[in-house]
Amino acid sequence: MSCTIIVGGFFGDEGKGKIVAHIAHQDHPTVISRGGVGPNAGHTVLVGKKEYGVRMVPSGFVYPKADLCIGPGVLVDPRVFLREVAEVEVSGRIFIDGRCGVIEEEHIARDKGSEHLAKTIGSTGSGCGPANSDRVLRVARQAKDLPELAPYIIDVAEKVNQAIDNGEPVLLEGTQGFGISLYYGTYPFVTSKDTSASQIAADNGVGPTKIDDVIVVFKAFPTRVGEGPFSTEMSLDKSHALGIQEFGTVTHRERRIGTWDGKMARYSAMINGCTQVAITGIDRVDPTCFGATSYDQLSQTAKDFIRQVEVDVGHPVTIISTGPELSQIIDLRKKR
Ligand code: IMP
Ligand code: MG
Repeated sequence: MSCTIIVGGFFGDEGKGKIVAHIAHQDHPTVISRGGVGPNAGHTVLVGKKEYGVRMVPSGFVYPKADLCIGPGVLVDPRVFLREVAEVEVSGRIFIDGRCGVIEEEHIARDKGSEHLAKTIGSTGSGCGPANSDRVLRVARQAKDLPELAPYIIDVAEKVNQAIDNGEPVLLEGTQGFGISLYYGTYPFVTSKDTSASQIAADNGVGPTKIDDVIVVFKAFPTRVGEGPFSTEMSLDKSHALGIQEFGTVTHRERRIGTWDGKMARYSAMINGCTQVAITGIDRVDPTCFGATSYDQLSQTAKDFIRQVEVDVGHPVTIISTGPELSQIIDLRKKR
């Protein structure tokens, strides 16, 4: 049995999508299932020259041999889902749990029209907050209530547990990041659900005894979109001078950039039950490391940074991303 959860350790957009895609190609999971809030998440995956941005389809879709699932805890926007299924051509191997809550147009209007959500919190406007509140009020519709989703509906929890019990490798994808967890993040500047590894397991109906590994993904220079505290934030002028500028996948807002936060990383690793660390953006610590595929190719500056991450977090760094492409990665999992 081997079930691995992959979650974001900072404020989201750590590069989980690429890590999931890489691990999938290495470990050959039969099932990749998504947890997390809903289509407020945006995953960018670069394969060769082609860039994909998905919000509902699990980012592991680039690995063609796995079945793709959306766990019962995740909100589904049927419009976004159906568009993406056609775009990335995953029809026939993608499934939704019938119990998923549904995002209606009205939820999006409420999200965008709310001064509190849209302005104070800086929500993504994807309707997730209002839909989750309707779910809690027990008035939301479920995926199984929509005829257009009927071809995709299964019991995802059952499928995922069966794969685990058969000893097949399974990946559970988290979305968002630790810092915007409803419980552990910078409340009220957070998303509408917990985002930690335990939640991702619960979103898929997988009990804690069935999880073997939790990979927490941190980016060397953390980012945050939307409002809220960000203790290591630098000015945009400074990040631009460092050559760092990013825009959100969903909202296209410019992301706020910060420096490495060892204290937050350690706390995040604790709550997530981290067993391994993946670090992305090492080429920003030292541009000479861009595209490196082995540890020996890294400069002393990069190696020192990785060592510091391990001291701060208290767990081994086993995956190092050195650029946006799928192949630009160092995988030390077999060595450590
Ligand atoms: P909501 O989840 O759309 O309600 O937005 C609440 C807060 O979480 C805002 O600050 C968003 O920018 C942030 N947020 C939600 N999803 C993501 C994500 O996938 N990546 C980064 N930030 C996110
Ligand atoms: Mg994202």
